[in-house]
Amino acid sequence: MKGDLLIAASALLAPCSALLRFGCARLTVQRLDPLVNPGVNPSPHLHQIIGGNSFNVSMDPKSHDLAALSTCTSCQFSEDFSNYWTAVLFFKAKNGTYKRVPQRAQQGMEGTQGGMVVYYMTDALFDTAQKSSVTAFKPGFRMLVGNVQYNNRDEARNFRQLTYTCMQNEGTRAPESIDFPDKPCPSGIMANHRFPTCWDGVNLDSPNHQDHVSYPESGTFESGGPCPASHPVKIPQLLLETVWDTKAFNNKADWPADGSQPFVWSSGDKTGFSSHADYLFGWKDNSLQKAMDGHTYVSAPSLKTQNIAAQNKCTVKDMVGEDIDSCKLISTSTGFIADVGRRAT
Ligand SMILES: *[C@@H]1O[C@H](CO)[C@@H](O)[C@H](O)[C@H]1NC(C)=O
Ligand SMILES: *[C@@H]1O[C@H](CO)[C@@H](O)[C@H](O)[C@H]1NC(C)=O
Repeated sequence: MKGDLLIAASALLAPCSALLRFGCARLTVQRLDPLVNPGVNPSPHLHQIIGGNSFNVSMDPKSHDLAALSTCTSCQFSEDFSNYWTAVLFFKAKNGTYKRVPQRAQQGMEGTQGGMVVYYMTDALFDTAQKSSVTAFKPGFRMLVGNVQYNNRDEARNFRQLTYTCMQNEGTRAPESIDFPDKPCPSGIMANHRFPTCWDGVNLDSPNHQDHVSYPESGTFESGGPCPASHPVKIPQLLLETVWDTKAFNNKADWPADGSQPFVWSSGDKTGFSSHADYLFGWKDNSLQKAMDGHTYVSAPSLKTQNIAAQNKCTVKDMVGEDIDSCKLISTSTGFIADVGRRAT
């Protein structure tokens, strides 16, 4: 497994090396959001979630210890009980019905059921040394990047580096766009979520789940840009890659006649500008800090790993009870695709 990952990473990122990069299988796909809508079942829109199986309708930061309450994780690094989630992509057919777009594992991680690839970096992706020091997240830390209400380019520019890659093949990583690709993407659409990399050093969360973190004052994390005085603590660059397998939906004859693209986030957004992702830190003890301090290559020898079969086995039960795949999604007055109707009980 570790060998597979190394080969995959070198194939994709050659000749660079050095960063924490690992696969996580799907934990669950449900209309829940314990960060933005704790206790709300169902939450406004559907999410795909990876990580520890303590994921629940509510996860009170004061009492919910992800590492202590989880008995498994869908991630390759078995000490990572964090939860990570994004919205879910749908294809809107000409007749108005919606189909959920499946997710695909990346090269070298074949067999992983859905999920994402997660990166934690101390320096730019292509900096082989990864020599900078970063402060790992603390227990109870959470954050949100992106804004579900955004629907235009100017708004989307408030966030840096929430992008899409139109994959021509398995190795495509450029160019990136901040709206949905306007042409069929033969190998799928990769959604890239890069979180802010500076922390105020005090607050584990904030009312909008964003104010306690910040982007560098100038430049970018990748260019070594300094953190602002208000948020002086450099935290790892967290990057999520999700590959939406659009192959079944790439026939232009099935696309809208007006030339627009047919994909829509589960939040109802057809532009792609509302791209967002949520993170609840849940690494066991100081395992993440140790791994970051190791400045090592992808494999991170200080961390325990598990195989893909074990990752796939870690799931949580359906707490919402609705058919998430099928065809009668409804747009509501708030602009959300509501649901597909509760399953008969
Ligand atoms: C989720 O929360 C409910 C209500 O507090 C609890 O009964 C249940 O055991 C929790 N599920 C998990 C998997 O922890
Ligand atoms: C609508 O179109 C989709 C995709 O072409 C097709 O699978 C589905 O059966 C159609 N549904 C209805 C009700 O016609």
